[in-house]
Amino acid sequence: MCSIIGYYGLEIAAPVIVKGLKRMEYRGYDSVGVATEANNHIELKKGVGKVAEVNSMVHLDSLPGRMGIGHTRWATHGKVTDKNAHPHSSSSGKIAIVHNGIIENYQELKKELEKEGYTFKSETDSEVIANLLQKNYDVTGDVKDTMMRTISELKGHYAFVAMFDNGQLSAARFHEPLIVGVGLSNFFFSSDVLGFIEYTDDAIYIENGNFAIMSKNEFKILDFNGEAVKYQITKVSKEFADSYKGEYAHFTLKEIYEQNETILKAGERSEDGIIKAADFIKHAKNVYITGSGTSYNSALIAKHIFSKYAKIKVETIMSSELQFSPDIIEPNSILIAISQSGESADVLEAVNTAKNVKCKIISIVNLLTSSLVRESDIAIGMNCGPEIGVAATKSFTSQLAILFKIIEKLSNNMVKVDFEEMSRSISKMLEERNKIKKIANELREISDIYVLGRGIHYPIAIEAALKLKELTYIHAEGIPGGELKHGPLALMDSGVLVIIINPNDSTYLDTLTSAIQIKSRGAKIIGISDVPSETYDYWIEIPKTSDLTYIISEIIPIQLLSYYAALEKNTDPDYPRNLAKSVTVK
Ligand code: AGP
Ligand code: GLU
Repeated sequence: MCSIIGYYGLEIAAPVIVKGLKRMEYRGYDSVGVATEANNHIELKKGVGKVAEVNSMVHLDSLPGRMGIGHTRWATHGKVTDKNAHPHSSSSGKIAIVHNGIIENYQELKKELEKEGYTFKSETDSEVIANLLQKNYDVTGDVKDTMMRTISELKGHYAFVAMFDNGQLSAARFHEPLIVGVGLSNFFFSSDVLGFIEYTDDAIYIENGNFAIMSKNEFKILDFNGEAVKYQITKVSKEFADSYKGEYAHFTLKEIYEQNETILKAGERSEDGIIKAADFIKHAKNVYITGSGTSYNSALIAKHIFSKYAKIKVETIMSSELQFSPDIIEPNSILIAISQSGESADVLEAVNTAKNVKCKIISIVNLLTSSLVRESDIAIGMNCGPEIGVAATKSFTSQLAILFKIIEKLSNNMVKVDFEEMSRSISKMLEERNKIKKIANELREISDIYVLGRGIHYPIAIEAALKLKELTYIHAEGIPGGELKHGPLALMDSGVLVIIINPNDSTYLDTLTSAIQIKSRGAKIIGISDVPSETYDYWIEIPKTSDLTYIISEIIPIQLLSYYAALEKNTDPDYPRNLAKSVTVK
């Protein structure tokens, strides 16, 4: 999702900000902008496109001054245009802001401000913050009071940085990430540690409902009532600073290829958190598991394996749905929250809902500096390193690996997971690259893909469909095999492609029958199975292994297929259109 950054220090601000924005590009965005302050004057430049493109057109990094703000926008309100890109300045030009999130009451605020003579240049919700700050600053002449008054009038979710032409920066956090980077002579506000990691690894995580003021003479953090709050400086991991594609054409491909190693790293995960989590789960009244997108698909798999291997019932709840049915959650239960980024707004909201009824939170998360970790009673790291490609690949298999580790503990080590076998099986699947490339060619003219699976293989089918739609923009849907005849069969004809997930287990014969029924309607079939069949136009062989390894192995060829089909369709696999890596708005 979008990134905000604020800088004050000894360096010329604009180039530092542009570098920070580039490092945060992976979060996803559509436009970019920078504003700086020099000699009590604010100047700004912005435009639609990638940081490097816009910079080469308008020279964002040539702005003067040692204080500035920057933004990459992921449009929610107002089209993707130069005017709507951030920063936005107040009508007098004396205050500029960058904002991440949504101001829900912007229409009424805008009307009032317009009545009072403030003018607007964009269609965004964010611009009201600039004019509201201006209005309050004109009355109070004080940054702290101005921020408090402004915050009390805003409804919605936000992290914003405001720059005043008197050389003060202030930033507020309400349900969107905001971190301070504290260097020796460089200070930052940022959505992500990557915004400043090159300059410092000392960070302050601003708590929800707090704001901070930074200038030449002071730095303080206050709550929304204006009371000073104590803060701690923490060291952040530099690991995430070094994300390079290396020999790979795209991050997505690199991340797919890392899985034979990341699976082992997840398997080595510190025992402590896992033992504690298993203990919590064993003694819980109810166990719920939540996530969004791919992380939710991991939750669906967890439901199957918890009941099969540990005889524990868990209820899955999509994070974005929980707020509409909060009564599903029984008080004093356990909520397991799965999230790669640890910043998904929907997941954080689900966690909040559960905490309100005194549930304990166990999280499985990749970014250990994220908001979710701070909201959790136990946080288990996935240990798979930075995942830059917007489509989740290695984080999915690592999430499953952590869930498998929890199963081991829940079963008192009766279930033994063979991570070495998993790694070997993944390597074998990765060797199928050339065959999969050829199949990807078939997807060029296809407009619909269906992925069929039964039992525990149904969540794999849903995850497969998610990968295909994100990376290729082809309509794709996961279907539980048994439901075919209850509706989807009507869609089968020679124009569609169907992927059949058909392991040689209790689902085999039924799924083969589904494949035959589909084939007789003329659809092309890719069989993903340990057993060949003449029904398949293409067969992707999965090595015969233990059950848990088999499930992990099934997703690998589909990740590769999605990637190579994206290349065939000329889409950018790392940055699919309209999507963001961490979805920090609802
Ligand atoms: C997966 O390929 C997607 N990009 C998306 O569905 C993602 O899994 C979802 O937004 C959840 O993200 P999280 O794991 O960071 O919470
Ligand atoms: N809602 C704001 C906009 O559409 C900010 C979006 C963002 O978080 O990038 O401009």
